[in-house]
Amino acid sequence: MNPDDYKDIFEPFDRLVEIEILGKTFEVPENNSLLRCFQYLSLDSVSKGDFCWNRDCMNCQVWIDNNGKEKALISCRAKVKEGMKIVRLHEEVVLEDLDLDDS
Ligand code: FES
Repeated sequence: MNPDDYKDIFEPFDRLVEIEILGKTFEVPENNSLLRCFQYLSLDSVSKGDFCWNRDCMNCQVWIDNNGKEKALISCRAKVKEGMKIVRLHEEVVLEDLDLDDS
């Protein structure tokens, strides 16, 4: 699937910002929640994931690097910020379109 076909699900954005997910850099639309950004990167798997999108299920939880400590975020509610480093994902956050497995 092509994210351009699904523009309506994203908040309006003028540019992409860089974030890091498990040590790899990706470009995602500014002004959107992190979960939308994951959907931008892996449309099929995130669209089919078990997500409430309204802070109830906690399946979208991720952890970012916050000055060397992990900080939990609810990705359906947290807005993306340039340079964010996501170091851990809830098991429901499957980004199958990304080559994240370094092992
Ligand atoms: S998707 Fe359910 S809490 Fe974020």
